[in-house]
Amino acid sequence: MAYGGDYNPEQWPEEVWAEDMRLMREAGVTMVSVGIFSWALLEPSEGVFDFSRMDRILDVLQENGIAADLATPTAAPPAWFFRAYPEALPVDRDGRRLSYGSRQTFCPSSPTYRRASLRIAEALAGRYATHPAVVMWHVHNEYGCHNDACYCDTSAAAFRTWLRARYDDDLDALNHAWGTTFWSQWYYTWDQILPPRATGAVPNPTHQLDWRRFCSDELLSLCTAEREVLRQAAPGIPATTNFLVLRTIDALDYWRWAPELDLLSNDHYLMSDDPEAEIDIALNGDLMRSLAGGSWFLMEHSTGAVNWQPVNRAKNPGEMRRNALAHVAHGADGIAFFQWRAAKAGAEQWHSAMLPHAGTDSQIWRDVVQLGTDLKALAEVRGSTVAAQVAIVWDWDARWALELPAQPSGELRYQDLVRDWYTPLWRAGIAVDFIRPDDPELDRYKLVLAPSLYLVTEAAAANLTRFTESGGTLAVGFHSGMVDENCHVYLGGYPGAFRDVLGVMTDELFPLLPEQTTGLTGDVPAATTADLWSERIRLTGAQAVASYADGPLAGHPAVTRHHHGNGTAWYLATHPDQDTLTALLHRIHQEAGATPEHEAPAGIEVVRRRGTEADYLFLIDHTGKGAEAPAEGIELLTGTPITGTVTVPPGGVAVVREPR
Ligand code: GLA
Repeated sequence: MAYGGDYNPEQWPEEVWAEDMRLMREAGVTMVSVGIFSWALLEPSEGVFDFSRMDRILDVLQENGIAADLATPTAAPPAWFFRAYPEALPVDRDGRRLSYGSRQTFCPSSPTYRRASLRIAEALAGRYATHPAVVMWHVHNEYGCHNDACYCDTSAAAFRTWLRARYDDDLDALNHAWGTTFWSQWYYTWDQILPPRATGAVPNPTHQLDWRRFCSDELLSLCTAEREVLRQAAPGIPATTNFLVLRTIDALDYWRWAPELDLLSNDHYLMSDDPEAEIDIALNGDLMRSLAGGSWFLMEHSTGAVNWQPVNRAKNPGEMRRNALAHVAHGADGIAFFQWRAAKAGAEQWHSAMLPHAGTDSQIWRDVVQLGTDLKALAEVRGSTVAAQVAIVWDWDARWALELPAQPSGELRYQDLVRDWYTPLWRAGIAVDFIRPDDPELDRYKLVLAPSLYLVTEAAAANLTRFTESGGTLAVGFHSGMVDENCHVYLGGYPGAFRDVLGVMTDELFPLLPEQTTGLTGDVPAATTADLWSERIRLTGAQAVASYADGPLAGHPAVTRHHHGNGTAWYLATHPDQDTLTALLHRIHQEAGATPEHEAPAGIEVVRRRGTEADYLFLIDHTGKGAEAPAEGIELLTGTPITGTVTVPPGGVAVVREPR
């Protein structure tokens, strides 16, 4: 298991490096990411390179047996670049050209940026392709984190080129796809089309959706161009770029990105206002494992507080270790942090690190050393993966479209809706994969959940319907199946694309106001309420499991169940309270025959990674009280043989190697 973090020795006098090496060895660090933001030092003026410092850094790492994940520094172009090419600075939606002085402030479509970034990538790759310390390429850093879109004229031209490819050079096809007869938006020539810049009223939805697709593709083409340069120079060294899945950052369609990389890596940060951030870690980890089709690498998380939220919460005792080992449980084969040594100066001086400002006489340092020991003990877990009977559909087009303006409700957040359904499964210890809606091998699952699939293509809806017909169980959340890939409403009643498989027809939507709730009765716990959403359903084959107890829809079905072909399709046409959702999903997964990974008391997270020779049962205590669970094998973190019962310490973790 690789262990380490971002290492920025250029921020420190070289005398400090020796101490870094000594302490890295003490903590069990095996790999660090270097050079991520080093462009200004590596290329002090255009085309003039100075690799002397990087030579010394890599040599020092090599001498100390620490591997390097060497980054292309292209996320932070230097000042000289923007002085020479001010047109490469991005323009925001309101037409303001941004200035340099932070990082990732460049126009993704700028030819000068592309040229300059490939030149430094090529120079770096040429110089270090055979350096023995370099084991991985770190392409750029978190594409789309700060510059998901640029609205300048160069980007406009690139957008038009992308659109001409998407619509086969057929402007009428674009006009029809975008529905431009509405509000007099018809385009007569390609050059009339602009990025969706700030405008007086609601912009065209399909225009915005295509723009998001374009922006993701545009950044991807920068990434693959750099990857190509690295591959040419060093075909044997795998290339990754660090992904980032946040509730608020969703610029990239990672289903399209994943196949372009040799290895997937993710950055994960806790939100201070999330009372159950451990669920976010699990969800993210499962998503990453699904994108990777196996194990992945945690490129960044934090030892303590970050510095970019309104108030930055420190981690509670034991929380950092639980976080890191939970990432491993959900498929990470290496753990790293931002960053090695806490910065004294600069924008991230208040961000935690492996080696804090206080130095080694600190709780964080002791925890970092402990984690190094833990990861050594888990070495054999590497390469094992999780086998799930349940899949949740995750789709960036659906996410982007759902969160466009002028929806029936502006209160719907994709990641929240998915997490609502993920949570009960997580609590029950049921392993979950994330899948694309058009996944061609759905039959490997017993249960497929589509909590939020506002946009779905006809082909993907047919795919999910076929899965049901051939005996699977499908559960669909409200406001799904509403529009096609062009954001056109499926006519004839909602939820258009899923009407037949669900056996229902909705003639009108009744979204609820913030704070408004409605009661539910039927086969649901007493005093059930729901919020966010309701709709007037007519049954066309399904049976009502629960109905509205009050309000304008009193007596109408709210949750339905439909035998379709050899399978069953559930529709949750509202947003029940979490207890009721838990009860419903419990019934749904039980009827589908999906089983928990292992028996464990409430509050213990359970994940099983399956290897070729053994399985690894992860038990993580989130109650603070600890617990006992049945198990057989060896507890790897302590090396203790387990016969019958394993003890999970309060706030701690147990990992049992189970015999086959
Ligand atoms: C991101 C970046 C890092 C650092 C961290 C701070 O993940 O990739 O360079 O800024 O955030 O949390």
